Amino acid sequence: MSGMTAPKGAFDVLPPDSARFLAVRDTLTAPLRRAGYGYVETPVFEHTEVFSRGVGESTDVVTKEMYTFDDRGGRSLTLRPELTAGLVRAFIEHRLHTGALPVKLWTVGSAFRYERPQAGRYRHFTQVDMEALGVDDPALDAEVVALGVQGFRDLGLTDFELLLTSLGDATCRPQYRELLVAHLEKLDLDEETRRRAEINPLRVLDDKRPEVQAQLDDAPLMVDHLSDSTRAHYDAVRQHLTDLGVTWTEAPRLVRGLDYYTKTTFEFVHHGLGAQSAIGGGGRYDGLSAALGGPDVSGIGYAVGVDRTLLAVQAEGLDVAASAGVQAFVVPLGAEAKRLAVRLVGQLRAAGVSADTVYGDLRLKGAMKAADRSGATHAVVVGERDLADGVGQLKDLRTGEQRAVPVGELFQALKDVVTA
Ligand code: HAM
Repeated sequence: MSGMTAPKGAFDVLPPDSARFLAVRDTLTAPLRRAGYGYVETPVFEHTEVFSRGVGESTDVVTKEMYTFDDRGGRSLTLRPELTAGLVRAFIEHRLHTGALPVKLWTVGSAFRYERPQAGRYRHFTQVDMEALGVDDPALDAEVVALGVQGFRDLGLTDFELLLTSLGDATCRPQYRELLVAHLEKLDLDEETRRRAEINPLRVLDDKRPEVQAQLDDAPLMVDHLSDSTRAHYDAVRQHLTDLGVTWTEAPRLVRGLDYYTKTTFEFVHHGLGAQSAIGGGGRYDGLSAALGGPDVSGIGYAVGVDRTLLAVQAEGLDVAASAGVQAFVVPLGAEAKRLAVRLVGQLRAAGVSADTVYGDLRLKGAMKAADRSGATHAVVVGERDLADGVGQLKDLRTGEQRAVPVGELFQALKDVVTA
């Protein structure tokens, strides 16, 4: 029955682990909300050309990893392999560039890539994505990078590193590309690598094989061939980052898997994760809006992988969701008490207290077990005899102490102890 399991490379997030997933997701987005970024939702599928034109025809993501299908109307659609291209498509479609700039957006959701699954690499995964569009200001680059760092810091992560470089722009990348191609032509490379070099020579710099790396020691690097304007831009970004207390590692060979990057480009890596160490990445993209038929404006942003960040949190042994479960629990014994329990739980929840009770026909022992498992610090236990006396037992589940409280005061008493 393989059809009745989650598809290869996809997985379920279940309680109690899901509390950690939510905590990571929300902690990563909190700095964005504090910095004036507005929440956006875009469809999980787009017209295929949004990605082929946006992410780039020469990337692995577009050539090998997209979930592309024709819908019943014959349109070619693709499940988003990343969230940036769809956000920029929405920015253009809704003419957001005609309003105040920069337009600052964030979103979070599913992404899909047909990759070979391994630890930290999935076919369905979740990204927090943010973009600041319409302004090319190095201070904005620094803001974006610093917000990424803040999210990791807020989770308590320390064993991560910011890799930073500049990939140049139209004023200097074409010349650099020629230099690099000339250099690569002199090397001993196999046919496939040569073909790759023709499509995107920068990709070769990222080749992990030792025999290739050994030949790249004196390959020309983009950062040594930046035009005056892109160098000044990069210098200013680094100045602002220093002012913001952000440290980084210069990564002149950093190559990202997506084609749209120009100028400031970065990746966050975590050292506790093994091969799939990138917990986030991003950069500036001068040509993306124009490539998607929009105005010729720049943008910058990043995406953080929620699943991988959760792995990093676990690798550092951090407890990010200590208070999962409910605050209060009600244990009814008998049909009469059940009505009271349902009413009490409803009242508590309406008052903002998280509360739960038992369903089905549980005996005292099973019900008390459920109360313990619920995470609640306090419970109300109501038996037949209690009801006859017009009381319920208010119990501290941590110490076992309990006292009788009149039925009419149970709601207030339980609310008071759990919110004290
Ligand atoms: P990316 O580097 O392709 O960039 O992905 C960002 C993050 O998503 C990665 O660092 C990783 O944490 C996570 N990720 C990617 N693929 C997988 C996978 N197969 N399984 C689990 N996690 C994965 C982007 O997607 C760009 N759109 C970022 C960006 C935004 N650039 C500018 N704005």
